[in-house]
Amino acid sequence: MKPQAFAQLQAVQQEHWWFRHRQRLLCQWLDPLFPKPVTRVLDFGCGSGSNLSLLGSFGPVVGLDPSLTGLTLAKGVYPQASLVQGDGNQVARLFAPASFDLIGVFGVLYHQNIQDPLQVLQQLQQLLAPGGYLLLAEAAFPMLYRQHDRQAAGARRFHPRQMVTLLEEAGLLVERSTCWNLPAFFPAALLALVDNLLLQEGDTIGELTLPPVWLNQFLYHLLTVESWMIGHGVSLPLGVSLMCLARKADETANCG
Ligand SMILES: C[S@@+](CC[C@H](N)C(=O)[O-])C[C@H]1O[C@@H](n2cnc3c(N)ncnc32)[C@H](O)[C@@H]1O
Repeated sequence: MKPQAFAQLQAVQQEHWWFRHRQRLLCQWLDPLFPKPVTRVLDFGCGSGSNLSLLGSFGPVVGLDPSLTGLTLAKGVYPQASLVQGDGNQVARLFAPASFDLIGVFGVLYHQNIQDPLQVLQQLQQLLAPGGYLLLAEAAFPMLYRQHDRQAAGARRFHPRQMVTLLEEAGLLVERSTCWNLPAFFPAALLALVDNLLLQEGDTIGELTLPPVWLNQFLYHLLTVESWMIGHGVSLPLGVSLMCLARKADETANCG
């Protein structure tokens, strides 16, 4: 990501309907899992730190990112976090095995600087303590790939089934998975078609700006229905993004 993109991202994240909706969904899945504080939490690819305070509410949080610009902004947002500058492609070299009870991966596997998502997930699996959880939210459906993804340094989007398979191949047990942001799916499919046919390299769609207040509020409230459904165990088959919760097998559970 370009350095100015981190500042742009941070400026809109507190207010923007998409980020607020994502936070709401992440909380819905995490809150029942960790009624008591856990030992250590990793925000993998924390960027400018928008999820550090959420993850930090479950236990002491470490934010990892290669970008010094991102980490500097993150320090301002959540000074309690331990921040580590490093390449997630070699994350197993940065921390001891079984260091974390919870790992969050939000919009990172999508990034062009991730060489092999499966290898990264395999390493994250090693870093999880037995019984620990990995929660990820990533861009869904390769067919929705468009100019906006290129500008956000996104190299790939994931089919929901592909993501479940990757997590399982990495040795994790997938407990829940769903798509989200369903209402945007068909407009996004149309945009992808138009983008790929018409737009020149360098054109911008400008999703990193806040929409007008009324529209921002309307979209957030519209998605309340979706968050209610997902909160009640519904797994949506379509959406612009996906979310998966996976667990590392508890070693004691395999003893008998
Ligand atoms: C779209 S941003 C998401 C930031 C944050 N997770 C969030 O949800 O707001 C993608 C992040 O992935 C980070 N990233 C890219 N390549 C990485 C790598 N090899 N290892 C770790 N993080 C990486 C980027 O620096 C950037 O902060």
